[in-house]
Amino acid sequence: MITFNEIGIIHSPHKERRGAPIQPAGADKFQGEVEVYPEFQEGLTDLKGFERIILIYHFHLSEGFDLMTKPFLDNQKRGLFSTRAPKRPNPIGLSIVRLLGVEKNILLVQGVDIVDKTPLIDIKPYVPQFDAFPGSKAGWIDAARLTAQSVRADDRFTRE
Ligand SMILES: C[S@@+](CC[C@H](N)C(=O)[O-])C[C@H]1O[C@@H](n2cnc3c(N)ncnc32)[C@H](O)[C@@H]1O
Repeated sequence: MITFNEIGIIHSPHKERRGAPIQPAGADKFQGEVEVYPEFQEGLTDLKGFERIILIYHFHLSEGFDLMTKPFLDNQKRGLFSTRAPKRPNPIGLSIVRLLGVEKNILLVQGVDIVDKTPLIDIKPYVPQFDAFPGSKAGWIDAARLTAQSVRADDRFTRE
């Protein structure tokens, strides 16, 4: 049994799942605000200076999951853990967004593929030295015809 408590809430222009970008790579023009609850504000100290941050959050609108699932970038079923599908046994999302500003307990971010009012679980700094592996193979996604820049979410994960 694991219990997480939300540390804030993500405000986003995407009011519903359908039509949202499927990754930050396709969400350059969308800004949002990450509201960190005041009791956690001190933990934002020193975040200025990081160009990008990693948001970890609860896919609170997701119910259930399929271990074989059709991801947004393909029309054939893929193993769930080879995808970023939002319906997962532990519905946790991860988005690396650009940090535009920090004002008290509010972070202004760009590249939002997250639905409005999504509960925030954690924030980590994106550190190229730790997190970037340019040229890494990406399995079936390397072979996919579609890209995260060109695709918006349809309703495949919103139906029962
Ligand atoms: C494919 S997921 C990728 C999310 C994240 N970048 C990741 O890799 O974990 C992005 C899609 O999840 C859906 N989504 C966003 N916020 C959600 C939420 N709070 N609950 C359920 N689905 C959500 C939207 O349809 C969005 O287009």
